[in-house]
Amino acid sequence: MSTVPFIPDNAPFTPEQRSWLNGFLAGLFSQTTAVAPVVELPPSLKIAVLYASQSGTAEGLARKVVKELKAKGHVASLNSLEGYTPAALFAERYAIIVASTYGEGDPPDSAKPFYDQLCLQHFPCAENLSYAVLALGDSNYEHFCRFGVELDKKLASLAGTRLCERVDCDLDLDESFAAWKRSLHRSLDEITNPSTARPRTSASVATLALSAKKDGAPAPTRENPFFAPMLEKRPLTSAVSSKQTLHIALDISGSGVSYEAGDACGVIAQNDPLLVEEILHHLKFDGSLDVQLPKEGATPLRHALLQHLQITRLNRKMIEAYATIGNCRPLFDLLSPNQQASLDSYIYDRGVIDLLHDYPGILREPADLVAMLSRLAPRLYSISSSPSAHSGEIHTTVAVVRYRSHDRQRGGVCSTLLADRRNTGESLPVYIQANKRFRLPANRDAPMIMIGPGTGIAPFRSFLHERRALQHKGRNWLFFGERSADTDFLYRDELETMHKDGHLSRLDLAFSRDQEQKIYVQDRMREHGAEFFRWLEDGAGVYVCGDASRMAKDVDTALQEIVCNHGSMTADAASQYVVELKDQHRYHRDVY
Ligand SMILES: Cc1cc2nc3c(=O)[nH]c(=O)nc-3n(C[C@H](O)[C@H](O)[C@H](O)COP(=O)(O)OP(=O)(O)OC[C@H]3O[C@@H](n4cnc5c(N)ncnc54)[C@H](O)[C@@H]3O)c2cc1C
Ligand SMILES: NC(=O)c1ccc[n+]([C@@H]2O[C@H](COP(=O)([O-])OP(=O)(O)OC[C@H]3O[C@@H](n4cnc5c(N)ncnc54)[C@H](OP(=O)(O)O)[C@@H]3O)[C@@H](O)[C@H]2O)c1
Ligand SMILES: Cc1cc2nc3c(=O)[nH]c(=O)nc-3n(C[C@H](O)[C@H](O)[C@H](O)COP(=O)(O)O)c2cc1C
Repeated sequence: MSTVPFIPDNAPFTPEQRSWLNGFLAGLFSQTTAVAPVVELPPSLKIAVLYASQSGTAEGLARKVVKELKAKGHVASLNSLEGYTPAALFAERYAIIVASTYGEGDPPDSAKPFYDQLCLQHFPCAENLSYAVLALGDSNYEHFCRFGVELDKKLASLAGTRLCERVDCDLDLDESFAAWKRSLHRSLDEITNPSTARPRTSASVATLALSAKKDGAPAPTRENPFFAPMLEKRPLTSAVSSKQTLHIALDISGSGVSYEAGDACGVIAQNDPLLVEEILHHLKFDGSLDVQLPKEGATPLRHALLQHLQITRLNRKMIEAYATIGNCRPLFDLLSPNQQASLDSYIYDRGVIDLLHDYPGILREPADLVAMLSRLAPRLYSISSSPSAHSGEIHTTVAVVRYRSHDRQRGGVCSTLLADRRNTGESLPVYIQANKRFRLPANRDAPMIMIGPGTGIAPFRSFLHERRALQHKGRNWLFFGERSADTDFLYRDELETMHKDGHLSRLDLAFSRDQEQKIYVQDRMREHGAEFFRWLEDGAGVYVCGDASRMAKDVDTALQEIVCNHGSMTADAASQYVVELKDQHRYHRDVY
């Protein structure tokens, strides 16, 4: 490969010097390609960094990759797979893709059109493409990292060349991300021939140091969160409700933390100390003795269980590790491929403590316990406050997870932390998870249709307050649903006031359990289908937030039906209409 070297933007030259040197190099290489470079710079590569992301993690990692590639002198661009085409990918020589997985092992919504096109048969082969895939996922899901896995396989089957092996990252991704980057950079260094390379460390360090300085106080991250005092905690459901949903306000005044309507707040979770003590007691382990954690190093076992390790949920990997340590035949049977349904049912409503009770006497060393556990992941909550209307605060709307199974009362790690173990005045480690794909319409006059049953109301409370504060004139239509009007009408006063004063042009409610037959938000959408379609034709954006497993799919079906029935279209044409809504960034989903 013959590459014309050029002086990267971050090399320590003035623009004039850089321009002169680039001209000199171009001239030299236009005369003859056989001449060895006279400047001792390794050739830079032009690398496309792409991401498929729903809630921003893949995008954040892709940004880091771009920054590091640039610091090493490469010419790196950053793009979402949204709106990107396979043809554009095949025109690249080098591409790096960071891809998360959703649904039943599917691409994030934004990457679906790209992947559908890639899977069509008639694409030319990717033999000029060298690529690397970093797959993101959560091993608690059955199809762990499946989109990244499939994408990697697909590109290989089209004759693309892997720059390095794909790495599948679980929620605790720091180490695997670092390992993948090491092998990626090794491979790139080999291509640019490191033997002729001038040491670049000073330039790289300078670039990184500069950008850190430019940003001022660094924004809080999951590794370096901001401790936000809890200002308020109040129930949004009544004391006799069958569920508990809380409004929680955090103080971020003077912290420099900022967010936009549509973003989520990440909370660094902590396990229930009673459960930690029960596990220590059962295993007769001394919680004060140090164990080694990959990131934190030596840490007292009690602290590791409280703060860093997932102890309430099980997954296949954990059961495999446990079975292997104890050479446990019944567990190996449960893990065999034909027992998937039994394994799923065992995992569904049990945690580590159940495994320890059901198959006792296996763990002798604290290190074995630590090795089999995944890392405790932060939990995300859609922010329900508006940056313009609730300055200095972050509000969240939290459904508390409580259930009983196998003779044990259980609680979700983070929602019960917020409900039971933290009070107003105490601080919570938080960070902002940007959600760029879930934003107010750029056009202040555009109508918005918001569909948010349950805690799905959260970002819409934010949007409604933000639109009012910014004096957007576009009409607002909210579909809200919960179990019962008397006990579960979240933010009732605010919503009814906004409806009365006209800020909410329409408010349609679906209280599922107030009558014999369940009524859901999609039933209300269908009832008002003609009006719904008129809003779409007027340019409305459709926003859906809340439960991913059933609600979001049923709402999508209802949307297609409305377009079909009220737009007098065939099912195919209606489906195309909805695809176009997505293409025009008018159909947004934030579902979990
Ligand atoms: C982008 C995004 C935005 C979100 N926004 C919000 C929001 O605004 N408000 C909100 O409340 N949540 C929101 N969530 C969900 C939130 O992040 C947490 O997943 C939720 O609070 C549960 O976390 P936890 O730690 O309390 O429970 P966990 O410890 O994670 O436990 C939850 C798990 O318990 C199990 N479980 C729960 N109920 C039962 C049952 N009856 N039987 C058996 N097993 C059961 C399930 O495996 C479930 O996955 C959002 C998630 C995402 C990804
Ligand atoms: N694992 C569990 O047992 C469990 C239980 C509750 C919530 N969750 C999860 O916890 C999160 C937060 O829940 P949440 O408080 O926001 O409330 P939610 O459970 O989403 O419920 C809000 C409203 O949506 C209704 N609903 C149920 N199925 C629906 C469907 N297919 N289409 C439209 N509406 C539907 C509910 O009715 P009905 O409840 O009357 O059917 C309720 O009226 C969600 O991710 C949810 O999936 C899990
Ligand atoms: C609703 C939902 C569904 C998910 N489904 C899967 C899945 O099927 N397989 C998987 O490995 N991870 C799954 N995940 C985990 C995400 O892929 C993981 O959190 C990833 O880091 C998110 O990256 P992003 O922020 O770039 O979207 C799911 C997450 C959510 C919220």
